[in-house]
Amino acid sequence: MKVAPSIICADFCRLGEELALLEAAGADLLHIDIMDGMFVPNITFGPMIVEAMRNETDLVFDTHLMIVEPDRYIEKFAISGANIITVHVEACNHLHRTLEIIRSFDIIPGVALGPGTSLSTIDYVLEFTEMVTIMGVNPGFPGQAFVPSVLRKIADLRAMIDRQGLDVRIQVDGGMRVDLAESVRQAGADILVAGASVFAPGTDYGETIRRLRGESALTVA
Ligand code: DX5
Ligand code: ZN
Repeated sequence: MKVAPSIICADFCRLGEELALLEAAGADLLHIDIMDGMFVPNITFGPMIVEAMRNETDLVFDTHLMIVEPDRYIEKFAISGANIITVHVEACNHLHRTLEIIRSFDIIPGVALGPGTSLSTIDYVLEFTEMVTIMGVNPGFPGQAFVPSVLRKIADLRAMIDRQGLDVRIQVDGGMRVDLAESVRQAGADILVAGASVFAPGTDYGETIRRLRGESALTVA
């Protein structure tokens, strides 16, 4: 089980320091929420900030594009240092083409689905992606509550991937808490994104990451 802290919950005035702390805490990936105020109500950051972070860390960057017409920005995020570019099914007119564009830049293509979006929308493109992100919340804000029906969706996706004999990772994003992690893992998740839980005031990033992975809090990294 891997953990991807979501930088949206970091202290933006101390981004470089936060990246160093996350790296030292054993983060497996860095989750970067890109929001445009159109696809979702919130606005976060663009390629310039991703590039600035790229200069500070070697962590694998998953840029989660919550923007309309994501094709317009794939090249910019590729150049700025993304390793994975995740697009939303709901934002793509031609999902297969978008995934192929991402791959043409030697970037790993990922697909995300909001809680209300059926798995049938990705049935025929699964082989063109390496990671599916199942949203545990409606995208737009950190700190929201996990939608319970998503657990069944993770299990259904795992079965769909196995049926097609594919090697596709399942990432779960939104509303992740330590007490939920085990059931999400059992449902078939490989990677947990965590914002509010990792950055909760007064907690140790490393300890929360280890607990999300299911390791004992006392395990030395
Ligand atoms: C939601 C974002 C998530 C979120 C995670 O729109 O895509 O990545 O920031 O934060 P928590 O874990 O607090 O839900
Ligand atoms: Zn996200």
